[in-house]
Amino acid sequence: MSESFVARAAWLRAELERHNHAYYVLDQPTIPDAEYDRLFRELQALEAAHPELASLDSPTQRVGAPPLKAFPPHAHGVPMLSLNNASEPEEVAAFDQRVRDGLETIQAIDYAVEPKFDGLAISLTYEDGLFVRGATRGDGATGEEVTPNLRTLRCIPLRLQGSGWPARLEVRGEVLMFKADFAALNARQRERGEKEFANPRNAAAGSLRQLDSAITASRPLSFFAYGLGLGADAMPVKTHAEVLDCLAAWGFPVAAERRVVQGSRGLLGYFADIGEQRPRLPYDIDGVVYKVNRLDWQATLGFVSRAPRFAIAHKFPAEEATTEVLGIDVQVGRTGAITPVARLKPVFVGGVTVTNATLHNEDEARRKDVRVGDTVIVRRAGDVIPEVVAIVPEKRPTRDLFGGEPLHPPFELPKTCPECGSTVEKGLDEAVARCTGGLFCPAQRKQALLHFAARRAMDIEGLGDKLVDQLVDAGLVHTPADLYALQLEQLAGLERMGEKSAQNLLAAIDRSRQTTLARFIFALGIRNVGEATARDLARHFGDLPALRQATLDQLQAVPDVGPVVAASLASFFAEWHNCDVIDKLCQAGVVWVAETPVADTPQVFAGKTLVLTGTLPTLKRDQAKAMAEAAGAKVAGSVSKKTDYVVAGEEAGSKLDKALELGVPVIDEAAFLKLLEGQTEA
Ligand code: IVH
Repeated sequence: MSESFVARAAWLRAELERHNHAYYVLDQPTIPDAEYDRLFRELQALEAAHPELASLDSPTQRVGAPPLKAFPPHAHGVPMLSLNNASEPEEVAAFDQRVRDGLETIQAIDYAVEPKFDGLAISLTYEDGLFVRGATRGDGATGEEVTPNLRTLRCIPLRLQGSGWPARLEVRGEVLMFKADFAALNARQRERGEKEFANPRNAAAGSLRQLDSAITASRPLSFFAYGLGLGADAMPVKTHAEVLDCLAAWGFPVAAERRVVQGSRGLLGYFADIGEQRPRLPYDIDGVVYKVNRLDWQATLGFVSRAPRFAIAHKFPAEEATTEVLGIDVQVGRTGAITPVARLKPVFVGGVTVTNATLHNEDEARRKDVRVGDTVIVRRAGDVIPEVVAIVPEKRPTRDLFGGEPLHPPFELPKTCPECGSTVEKGLDEAVARCTGGLFCPAQRKQALLHFAARRAMDIEGLGDKLVDQLVDAGLVHTPADLYALQLEQLAGLERMGEKSAQNLLAAIDRSRQTTLARFIFALGIRNVGEATARDLARHFGDLPALRQATLDQLQAVPDVGPVVAASLASFFAEWHNCDVIDKLCQAGVVWVAETPVADTPQVFAGKTLVLTGTLPTLKRDQAKAMAEAAGAKVAGSVSKKTDYVVAGEEAGSKLDKALELGVPVIDEAAFLKLLEGQTEA
């Protein structure tokens, strides 16, 4: 065989793996996909023509191998242990105290901290830098060998980069699926009529435990390394943080969020920090892991039964739990949207007790096939409304020989609104069905009133759902305008309403008469008009009559108002009863200060170019941009000699550096606002 074939194959392998690492580990693609594919095909062809060239570290091995009959057992070189858990701050403080007691020190301990990945634990064995075997955790001593499957993960190096790795090495970490990859996979499954996965963790586990590794290859799995098994003793480093840095240098993905912190205060600070970042992280985590950073101290502390004394997992409250469906109702929202809601046996999830969970819409309810009596997985993440993720099919009650529970029928949307009896309709392209009753429907009326009174709308303190229910049910309030005609004696007659609270409510209603145009527009509850749009509309039109009379084209001249929002506005103002309510509100004394419409905004930035960078203290980027443009500025994306001002907020990066380098004036938000108001001259 020609030397040049060998050299070419070696070069192609190294090149392809370098691009894999850049793409899958560093998230910094280095070549276009088409170019990668070309190199890949060249290597495939070369290996096919010269089978003796084949090697285990070739990227061509990543597409899957012939299916297995079973997974062979694999004995771990060093057992895979588990972690003790903490959920309360006191438990974390107690852990830190135990560590200091164990080390007989009173000094603050350095801890290496990182996210606790919500996937499945894996051990990867490398011999002389070559990936030879990979296995699941199993019982900790013996796992299942899933080498061909792990080979398909592009972010797992087939050959270690750099140097300094022990000859025999076990890398420990977690296989998982990124949230976006999970969503795309489920969409694909849905399109093909195949089973969807309940969550990224199940999807990762299901994808890895495939006897046919070609299936695994088609699933978007990722991996993070967090430690070592065999070979740990041979490492020339003193801390866990350094171990992680070595893993990164050898080509493994490690958490970008890893840190070293001091003492229990440092631990709790990190926990809060990651908790705050959690919704924005690209993958699911179920807590954070704290490890004593010094490796010699880890050895001193040692293990109790199957868990280390030097580490602990601080878990977030579980976001998923299983419970039973007691019934399925429908709820009618402010805009008439009909939402099926599962009534649940109370369950503690995401830090609160949940008794209802949304099924989103008819299609979702049918797709998940949720029925009364089913056991379901309920999810409550952050402040998001709890939802039914999936049913647990094995737990579905069935009629057996002795009778048993009959199976409830599939969910069906009612044909008429359960609140007002109006027809329920669903547009052709719409997922959501709606009650056509409008404000005739008490449910819609109640929601509309609650929205009107909300803090970010008219801000009527004390007007909550119980009170709105009573006011509507007693026929005292039909529209928001009726609120302003309420009398003390009417309120005092209501349940749980003393004279004092009635007076407070009337005072709050009275105070709400003084408002802003933006709040008023938002309070009207026009479909597709949220707070930001209301603010843009107020700023653009300056006053209500101009907005009411605006044509579709005039509406679409407002930044971010497209055909859908414009149509919602037009049809809202075309309804006589909406106009009637607005007129009555104005007659009842609701007032605002007119704003300067855009057309009349002084053009203080005429002919000037601005660049916005960093996070401004009060203005959102879009708002600042719209305000600058309204005042005649051109807002550019990068700084050059032609830039007149850079408006910089917190964490401004390279644009700020560039401005300083070029001597472009840099101003903060306050100075920007002063310029806009004409208090200083641009
Ligand atoms: S360290 C000696 N670090 O949590 C124990 N584990 O109960 C070494 N896990 O199934 C574990 N993220 O797979 C460690 N950053 C992390 C982790 C992590 C997730 C999992 C691990 C194991 C469980 C421990």
